[in-house]
Amino acid sequence: MRIVITGAKGQLGHELQAVLAEYHLTLLDMPAFDVTGPDVERKITDARPNVVIHAAAFTNVDEAEHEPQRAMAVNAEGTERVARAAADSGARLVYLSTDYVFDGSKQAPYLECDEANPLNVYGRTKLEGERRALARHPNTVVVRTAWLYGMHGRNFVKAIAQAASTQSEIRVVNDQRGSPTYAGDLARAIKAMLGTDLKGVVHATGAGDCTWHEFASEIVSLIGLPRRVVQVSTAEMARPASRPGYSVLANAILYGQGIRLPHWKDALAQFLRQIKVEVEAK
Ligand SMILES: NC(=O)c1ccc[n+]([C@@H]2O[C@H](COP(=O)([O-])OP(=O)(O)OC[C@H]3O[C@@H](n4cnc5c(N)ncnc54)[C@H](OP(=O)(O)O)[C@@H]3O)[C@@H](O)[C@H]2O)c1
Repeated sequence: MRIVITGAKGQLGHELQAVLAEYHLTLLDMPAFDVTGPDVERKITDARPNVVIHAAAFTNVDEAEHEPQRAMAVNAEGTERVARAAADSGARLVYLSTDYVFDGSKQAPYLECDEANPLNVYGRTKLEGERRALARHPNTVVVRTAWLYGMHGRNFVKAIAQAASTQSEIRVVNDQRGSPTYAGDLARAIKAMLGTDLKGVVHATGAGDCTWHEFASEIVSLIGLPRRVVQVSTAEMARPASRPGYSVLANAILYGQGIRLPHWKDALAQFLRQIKVEVEAK
């Protein structure tokens, strides 16, 4: 199987490379591959892929509020170009999307068929990416995930671990609930999905749910440093982008295929053990 991975240097891209190493991989990312730049379609079709995993995105949720046109160009127009190339190649497309397509008003795990209503630019542009991918190419799986972290790149787990090493008190919001997802687990779930004939929208997150405060408290407790994790409200933190208060995704379609990601607490413990091993080995 020949697989193209866009966003190959990102958090998920790195894990996909490891999990799919047995296949012939074409790794695309900035600066040589820019979904808003020239030759996007040719760079993909030249690889004659059977599968295109489109993980590249403008992922900075707050920055997207200040750069809505760029976010739309990357997340929606760029995705449409990738989808066209996948269709021209006869390849299956896997497009990564987000829990931030929802507004959080439901207060029960969101199903794939629930109506999307994004609260911020990032969510709107990713949702537009979903619509364009599905319209352009019928053989598409839209994989919505959430609260992603991994070994490579910046993420919440690393930020809290870093804060815990320098501050006695950490302030974290306690009125947003979602499902932390380890990028390695998501990469394995995507690999398993390639063995199914799934099409359309599929939710794929770590099992269970928590608030950012509960997530941070678990990180600090597992690291074993005596730090106070203080609950604050979203209003007190005043970020540029609005975020849903509730964005837990039901993984019903994935479970129906016998594919499950581990519980977020187990995945986090495993991840922190792995980081410790790597730090000690250096
Ligand atoms: N992170 C999360 O919490 C989260 C949650 C839900 C869904 N997702 C989705 O999951 C996917 C993977 O997320 P991630 O956390 O692995 O993202 P990431 O670490 O930010 O990686 C994204 C990659 O895309 C590249 N990229 C940005 N603009 C590009 C462009 N114009 N052309 C080509 N490549 C470009 C980035 O390069 P530069 O670093 O040089 O910009 C980066 O290597 C994304 O589609 C994201 O929307 C993420």
